[in-house]
Amino acid sequence: MKAIRVREFGPPEVMRIEELPELRPGAEQVVVRVKAVGVNPADTYMRSGMYARKPSLPYTPGLDAAGVVESVGEGVTHVAVGARVYTSGSITGTYAEQMLCEENQLHPLPEKLSFAQGAAINVPYATAYRALFQRAKTAPEECVLVHGASGGVGVAAVQLAHAAGMKVIGTGGTEKGRSLVREQGADHVLDHHAPNYLDQVQALTDGHGVDVILEMLANVNLDRDLKVLAMGGRVVVIGSRGRIEIDPRDTMSRDASILGLFLFNVSRQEMAEIHAALGVGLENGTLKPIVGKEVPLANAPRAHREVMEPGAYGKIVLIP
Ligand SMILES: NC(=O)c1ccc[n+]([C@@H]2O[C@H](COP(=O)([O-])OP(=O)(O)OC[C@H]3O[C@@H](n4cnc5c(N)ncnc54)[C@H](OP(=O)(O)O)[C@@H]3O)[C@@H](O)[C@H]2O)c1
Repeated sequence: MKAIRVREFGPPEVMRIEELPELRPGAEQVVVRVKAVGVNPADTYMRSGMYARKPSLPYTPGLDAAGVVESVGEGVTHVAVGARVYTSGSITGTYAEQMLCEENQLHPLPEKLSFAQGAAINVPYATAYRALFQRAKTAPEECVLVHGASGGVGVAAVQLAHAAGMKVIGTGGTEKGRSLVREQGADHVLDHHAPNYLDQVQALTDGHGVDVILEMLANVNLDRDLKVLAMGGRVVVIGSRGRIEIDPRDTMSRDASILGLFLFNVSRQEMAEIHAALGVGLENGTLKPIVGKEVPLANAPRAHREVMEPGAYGKIVLIP
């Protein structure tokens, strides 16, 4: 089977297609025929070697994928050959024609969703769910600002918050991205490149401020985020690509909290809860992953460049 391999950390071109032996499942393991692979910014950080988690070389990248169960090992009881599944991680990496998974990493993919949509679920939806419900502990009727709503995590967050009865303000950097955010259920949409765009928050919330901010680029926005929070407001730092100076007094005057989030810190039990909740939304149609672009697996280097460029529109997905 073909798989992308990384033999040294570096630019996107260190990812090359190689021919590897077919995978066989051990006890309590499952082999999945991969039909689509989700590309996440974290895949690019890992490939560059500049990430909190450094895989040992050589490795096959990827955290997200969807496909069909091909074979199961001894002791596998909840997953059957032929089942359509999406994954929350794998043992062998997802940028490949086959992946080896633990049984508990596989979740049913509803018939109404394509494999490409299935590959767009795990990291983005689990992160958005974790941020909204496990970290910020949002309640219906609260107002949420999704700061960077046009990409993978942002789209998921808008759909989840809207379905849970929150008022949602989303931001996007392009007209196309902002239209997407509006279509996902955002009540108001702002351009995060427009001067002083956060000044509109007071008017949009009748002077209340936002209760929760999901922040995709904290090194740019955190200082200004704190100034538009309501009393008791929370900022969840999901993405940050550098340092920033803040005024701590902005947190004091509002009893505000800054909450970190790292998906790799989620416990097995919390992850099971997240995917149980997502499964209901995916089945009843309130959660609908958006795939902006499909790219052949061999073009993974191009996908890694594009996922880091401005102008996000849902997810980039690789097709083996
Ligand atoms: N902590 C964790 O465990 C975790 C998990 C998942 C993701 N993340 C991180 O979260 C971030 C988002 O992930 P993703 O998968 O959604 O990436 P993505 O699909 O590439 O989307 C990036 C988003 O950031 C927006 N953005 C760009 N400039 C911005 C600005 N000045 N202010 C606010 N937003 C801005 C983009 O908008 P435009 O392109 O429209 O400008 C887009 O909506 C990444 O940094 C990723 O590494 C962290």
